[in-house]
This record gives sequence, C-alpha cells and structure tokens, in this order.
Amino acid sequence: MIILKSDREIEFLRKPNQLVAEFHRTIAPMMKPGVSTWDIELFAKDFAKKHHAATSLVGYRNYPYITCASVNDVIAHGFPSKKPLRSGDLVTIDTVFDIRGWKGDSAWTYKIGKVSKTSEELYKVTKEALYKGIEQAIIGNRLGDIGHAIQVHAESHSFSVVRDLVGHGIGQDIHEEPFYLHIGPPGKGHRLKEGMVFTIEPMINAGSHEMYIEEDGWTARTKDSELSVQFEHTIAITKNGPIILTEQD
Ligand code: MF3
Ligand code: CO
Repeated sequence: MIILKSDREIEFLRKPNQLVAEFHRTIAPMMKPGVSTWDIELFAKDFAKKHHAATSLVGYRNYPYITCASVNDVIAHGFPSKKPLRSGDLVTIDTVFDIRGWKGDSAWTYKIGKVSKTSEELYKVTKEALYKGIEQAIIGNRLGDIGHAIQVHAESHSFSVVRDLVGHGIGQDIHEEPFYLHIGPPGKGHRLKEGMVFTIEPMINAGSHEMYIEEDGWTARTKDSELSVQFEHTIAITKNGPIILTEQD
C-alpha cells in the first residue's frame, strides 16, 4: 500500500531530508585524497548527534554502519573503510537520518582529486539522469515515465542502468511502497498522486548493468569491474510539481 502524505507530514519530512542534504554539503569539501570513508562514517555519527537526529541505516536488516560508502566499481551498500581514498576515485556516500520518526534519504557521488574523462562523463550523465527523472515526477505521470527518462539519458551515452536495486517510497519507514526500477517502459507503473514521497536514485554503470553481492551480504559490485555512480534525492509529489526534499542549495 502506498502511504500518501498530508502537507503537514511533508513538512515533518523536510527536516530529516534537509539534514541529509546539509550533511552532503558539509562533507563535500572533505572528500579529498587521503580521507577515508571511515572518517566520513565517524563524522556522520557526530553530525547526527549534534543535530539530534537518529541514524536509520545502522541495524536496519543488520546493516552494520551509519553510512554506505561505495567506491569505484561498488554500486551501492559498500562498507566504510579505513583505506585512504586516492585521486581518481569515485565514491558514493549514502545515509538516512531520522528526526521525530520521519526519515530522510540521499546518496551522492564525490570525485576524489582528479578523475578520468570517463568518470567525469559518468558523473555528469548520472546527475543529469536524476534531474530528468525528477522532471517527470508530476501528477498523472507514471513511475515508468521517470524510469524511462533516466534510461534514455544513460543509454544515449552508452551507459547502463542498474536493475537489481530500486527506488522506494519513504516516510516513517525507510522503505515503503512503491518500489520501482529506474528504467521504462513509459506509461507503465503506478500513477503519481499528490502526497507520494519517494526516492529517485539511479545507479548508472560505465559498462554492463549486471551486478553481484559480495560475501559480506551487502556490497553490490559491477560484474565487469567497471565504474558505477549514483545520485539520490527524496522527492514529494505536489499539485505544484515535485519538491526535492534533499536539495542541497
Ligand atoms: N539509501 C539506501 C536506499 O536507497 C539505503 C540502503 S542501505 C540499507 O535504500 F541498509 F537500508 F539497505
Ligand atoms: Co534510498
């Protein structure tokens, strides 16, 4: 069942989502060669404490950390690591904060130092794909229209869209219905209604869309060891179009 949110509930959702956005704004200048994703994990812990937020990922289905840190060919759900990041790495940091029971979710990819031309392009195209998806998030459209816009943009640049991990509704739970793929076909899937709140979180690969999960039970990696990038916003569907609850500026 899709839980539609009232205007008041969308107001409650603004707080944790804005806090995740502020977290990303704050770590952006820290994402440099030499920093480790473990440093970011510790920072996330202090940041949440300082802002009186709960950290929702740790313990969720036994996920062991506050953040997910997915480097290069890791698509999602990578574990933070003490290994220093190096120039040329692409790292996605994902976290969920909770304020008064309401959840906020956003993942963002960071370029470490100087990255390759392909990395630059994958980064740019993935971010554009997210915003092309958001443009379709209007009442009356369907989830497949969002997926289609993302897929067309990624594939027109010869990149591929991950199909084993999905976007999801969010509210008092991290994961609510609807669950949907970031691909078409257009005109299919749930129709978008006022009060729906969900993530759009395309994971785009430089090579094939295929992935596997490592023995740790979480780390999702590309089968062909090619790079993967992800940008995720939580959005609310309103009469006046989508509100990006995790917008960073
Ligand atoms: N932000 C991620 C998501 O889109 C978090 C997944 S990690 C998990 O759902 F622990 F919640 F699975
Ligand atoms: Co999410």
